Amino acid sequence: MPATTWFARVVEQARGTNPFAGDVVPSRVPILAAGRPSWPFPHPWNYREPLRILDAIWWGAEREPGAGRHNRYLYAAGFPPVLVTRDPGVIRAVLGATGEKPGQFDRDTAPTAGIARATGEDSLLYANGEVWHRQKRLVAEPFSRANLFQPELFHEFEQTFRATVHERLELLRARQRASGARVTRLALEPEIKVLMLEMLVNNFFGGGVGPEELRGRFVPALETLIDHMVSDTIAPRLRALADRLTGRAGRNRRLKADFEALVDVALAGRAKGLGLWKQFRSEAPDDALRANIRVFLAGAMEATTSFASWAISHLARAPHIQERIHAEVRNMTTYDPDTLAVAPTLNRALEETLRLTPALYFLPRRAAVDTTIETADHRKLLVPKGTHVVLDVWNSNRCDEFWGVDATGSPAADFAPERWEFLAAKGVTPKDKLHFGFGFGPRFCPGRNLGLLEVGLVVGAAVKLFRFSAAGGRTEARAGVSTKPADGVLVDLELRD
Ligand code: HEM
Repeated sequence: MPATTWFARVVEQARGTNPFAGDVVPSRVPILAAGRPSWPFPHPWNYREPLRILDAIWWGAEREPGAGRHNRYLYAAGFPPVLVTRDPGVIRAVLGATGEKPGQFDRDTAPTAGIARATGEDSLLYANGEVWHRQKRLVAEPFSRANLFQPELFHEFEQTFRATVHERLELLRARQRASGARVTRLALEPEIKVLMLEMLVNNFFGGGVGPEELRGRFVPALETLIDHMVSDTIAPRLRALADRLTGRAGRNRRLKADFEALVDVALAGRAKGLGLWKQFRSEAPDDALRANIRVFLAGAMEATTSFASWAISHLARAPHIQERIHAEVRNMTTYDPDTLAVAPTLNRALEETLRLTPALYFLPRRAAVDTTIETADHRKLLVPKGTHVVLDVWNSNRCDEFWGVDATGSPAADFAPERWEFLAAKGVTPKDKLHFGFGFGPRFCPGRNLGLLEVGLVVGAAVKLFRFSAAGGRTEARAGVSTKPADGVLVDLELRD
């Protein structure tokens, strides 16, 4: 019987009892380990480097025999156990067993507490149980593939998205022409961010905000808020104190007001049936939708910016793949599902981007009751009530055992779109070989179709107009709510003509 009170847990921890049972027995993360890059848990001094915390968790794990190599746990100070897994079979089983039904996992609200304070608790992302299920039903229809990819609606979005992307990239082109320089060095991430927010606010929600206001007012408001969400999760009291001491509290209030103004813009299209709202059939009052709109605005801007930034960053280091994509999109005038289907290199490059550098690098879950999961190859694991489960997608996708040369034809740590060709030749599709870039199971990303359309358009149009090469060598990843290239996608941009 796993311990549930603080005292019983302290006793169990002192005895060194493993609270998990079954075929997948995780190994305990040692509290002290020489040479480790960080402490293996977040605290106010290391929370801005979550990928290093994950590295610290896996420190020395390769020496573990059996399941402990890819499944580890922390169990100390009377806290409930934390299970960290990079085993794709376990990740899939936990995601499949997440939902509102009795005995299923919840999404762990601990890592998103700061997000909830900024967006409200009744959002699809934060809520669990019946509240989540109700929200899910509300957005299922307008976000469904049948709806978004319904020819008439799809073309409407595709055209307005394309016009927006075209306009922004043309501006870049004009700027470059005017400068007279053949090559311009530019950090593309800030440009991508404005473009992503513009598509979301204006094309998707039917708003009418100009790019300068988006760039000067709303993007900074969302950026600061997102930054605030991270520190507010890890060290809320420290954060509040720092804000008071540095006089940032007033500025934060102003930014929050700007965020609310943007939510008003997104909601204003509802009464007129603009953009996505045409498909939205619900009696729910506007106020009941605000938390979700906040999550869509901040979350979608963050995730699509991460995805497109990584794709361009990888391609900037792979000129031969850029040329192959250029040959595919050169004469493409629309980006509907049919034309995109004949751009296999672009599609594989996007798939590979999400595998190697997923926007959401870990997925958090919590066992509401003692829960036994079973993997597809019939391994069982008892996860005791209260356990925080960290599904470490980032490191899972970088393990040679699962994604290396033997399994996929290319080393796991390489950006290799051809790995999907190798797999396809064996009859393996991305549906069979999951990288969890959009999650899996009941809490799968509802914005997948929209996000893929936006990112495909931005990356396709960028390759069509420009040749770009990375200004530096290898780029590191930085991670907060999502991952991004640490160099801000610094590229040398050259016009194609
Ligand atoms: C294209 C880039 C995107 C990526 C890589 C991405 C990734 C993900 C992932 C991995 C999850 C699962 C999280 C988990 O299981 O804990 C998720 C959930 C979610 N995503 Fe996305 N997403 C993207 C775009 C979007 C967009 C455009 C929207 C909305 C407009 C959106 C809204 C959501 C919401 C509301 C959830 C929570 C769903 C639930 O819990 O039922 N995402 N996303």
